[in-house]
Amino acid sequence: MQLLGGLSPEEFLKEYWQKKPLLIRNAWDNFPELIDYARLSALAQRDDVESRIIEYKNQCWKAESGPFHPARLARLPETDWTILVGNVNHLVPHIAELLYQFNFLPYTRLDDLMISYAPPGGSVGPHYDSYDVFLLQVSGKKRWQISSDDASGFIEDAPIRVLKDFNPEQEWILEHGDMLYLPPMYAHHGVAIEPGMTYSIGFRAPKTQEIAGKFLEFLQDELCLDGMYSDPDRQPTAKPAEIDNEFVAKMGEMLKNITWNDDTVRRFVGSYFTEPKPHVFYDQPDDPINIEDFASAISSGGIAIDAKALMLYESDRVYANGEALEFEPEALPFLRQLADQRKLPAADYPESLITILYECYEYGYLQLS
Ligand code: SIN
Ligand code: CO
Repeated sequence: MQLLGGLSPEEFLKEYWQKKPLLIRNAWDNFPELIDYARLSALAQRDDVESRIIEYKNQCWKAESGPFHPARLARLPETDWTILVGNVNHLVPHIAELLYQFNFLPYTRLDDLMISYAPPGGSVGPHYDSYDVFLLQVSGKKRWQISSDDASGFIEDAPIRVLKDFNPEQEWILEHGDMLYLPPMYAHHGVAIEPGMTYSIGFRAPKTQEIAGKFLEFLQDELCLDGMYSDPDRQPTAKPAEIDNEFVAKMGEMLKNITWNDDTVRRFVGSYFTEPKPHVFYDQPDDPINIEDFASAISSGGIAIDAKALMLYESDRVYANGEALEFEPEALPFLRQLADQRKLPAADYPESLITILYECYEYGYLQLS
């Protein structure tokens, strides 16, 4: 794969993934169009888009969150700032296509494609991220320095995570189409030399605490336990404020009814990993066509998952928007194909599939071509 510098996905995963950095010259130059600064800054003005400006000014790091007013953007100086826009794959189709080039990794891991623009001197400072990232340079030039040493800790009181000490071990100038892969916790420092963009393909690696908390919420929603406390053999007490051992033991017995198995975990994962991000809202069709017209539209043009939506499956269950879909078994292979490829080609599909697809279309998870 040219994207991986001639390595196969197997070779890349074995040698580099989560292990060591990889610089790939000319990884990708297949852009049907380039996003210019005007387009990126227009995205940073929208309230359904996450954006930030990082500036280095008077020896201090400054960070602001969007949406940004055009007057704010017009005041930016000639040098030493970076604007970052997250989840551009939700809004620009060819960016979504680029993100899904990385589908040799599962969608449970793939997060988003963020774009940064920086004039000369623009940087977000030396830091490390807790997740894997591919940094693809698009136009302009950026100097990247990296270091396996992440021990110095971050500057206190800075609004962003900037390492106190950074001792670069390797350095490269990345030009249009070059890409740098970094495993989690690998210190890096990019500084723009010529105005340009960095496309960051980011991955999702949930923390144990997050997964445990969300799993407990999931469990709470579906727990349905019988029984209640009883004590027909109770004796009188002289210490009515005391929590006695027998009471605690009975509470412990009741809590032992909270159980889960592999199936519970599977359903939790399907549900949690298809939940939309906090700022995402699906666009339901204003004037939905009827199911017969919908079936003929698929038969002539196919259908695709909306760029903001994710569909995942395990065994015979398919999930979208945090829920398991309900459908006839006949629809399953087509739904799995749709989830993997994010689209289905034009064809006449069984009615059972059309029924569930139509439901998803009404919710705004699917788009007709
Ligand atoms: C950048 O786009 O310059 C910063 C991306 C990163 O360091 O993760
Ligand atoms: Co970073």
